[in-house]
Amino acid sequence: MKITTIYFSATYTTKRVVEAVADNLSNEVMAYDITNDTSTDEVAISADEVVVVGVPVYAGRVPAMAVERLRRFRGNNTPAVVVAVYGNRHYDDAVLELHDIMTEQGFRTVSAGAFIAQHSIFPKVGKARPDAEDISDIKAFAEKSAKLVAKSFGKITLHGNRPYKVPGGIPIWPTASKKCTACGACARLCPTGAIDPESPKGVDKTKCIKCGRCIVVCPTKARRFYGIKYSLAAARFNSAFATRRENEMWFAE
Ligand SMILES: Cc1cc2nc3c(=O)[nH]c(=O)nc-3n(C[C@H](O)[C@H](O)[C@H](O)COP(=O)(O)O)c2cc1C
Ligand code: SF4
Ligand code: SF4
Repeated sequence: MKITTIYFSATYTTKRVVEAVADNLSNEVMAYDITNDTSTDEVAISADEVVVVGVPVYAGRVPAMAVERLRRFRGNNTPAVVVAVYGNRHYDDAVLELHDIMTEQGFRTVSAGAFIAQHSIFPKVGKARPDAEDISDIKAFAEKSAKLVAKSFGKITLHGNRPYKVPGGIPIWPTASKKCTACGACARLCPTGAIDPESPKGVDKTKCIKCGRCIVVCPTKARRFYGIKYSLAAARFNSAFATRRENEMWFAE
């Protein structure tokens, strides 16, 4: 089975989940990391391949930037395994939205999963996930998906609502402390170009999507969310979403 993976993954947990799914399906994998990829060249994926597509959940939705970047992939009734990765709060309408996008692009959803990972804004929530139990769920998910692809499959029923949730946001942006050595890694890897390489301690609030990538790639740990608004939001969030959620999986009939 030839697999194409497509993922948007700012802090690399979606990438890990998508790779774990794909590795359990086949060893012939072609990967498209669309996190920083602005290409608009069409990619056609034929019906005898399988796509594993993954996005993080942002405010209960597929990140707007991922939606744009998924539009260049074109299936021809190609089976798709749809994966949304979220930080232990909820996936809301993101699984359904990703399925809808892939359907519009010519894919047929064989299975879908909402998998939990460490929250990229509030890392105490979902800490260190995906863990061994999650990886075992992902393996079972991939195995069941492979069996379905091998025979014919019909429609899938998913959780979520249309119209989708209207995303909200918190007024916080990451900046760097004096530990910043101006190495430029954050500016180079920011998916939206929100960090000026000449002045990397700051952030362009009009461009930043709060994805957290600059925080995880900073070698000196200079970059993070600072300030009282963040501390208050984190305290509330950490206690509201401390209870462990479990992964959910859906399969076509
Ligand atoms: C802007 C933003 C919004 C988020 N919204 C949600 C959400 O609605 N529900 C949730 O459970 N997690 C939410 N998260 C957490 C991410 O879905 C989670 O950390 C995910 O694993 C990040 O994937 P990545 O490591 O591939 O970037 C959000 C994270 C960010 C950065
Ligand atoms: S500046 Fe904003 S958009 Fe850029 S990497 Fe950091 S959090 Fe993401
Ligand atoms: S990655 Fe960290 S040290 Fe490097 S420029 Fe960005 S904030 Fe400064």
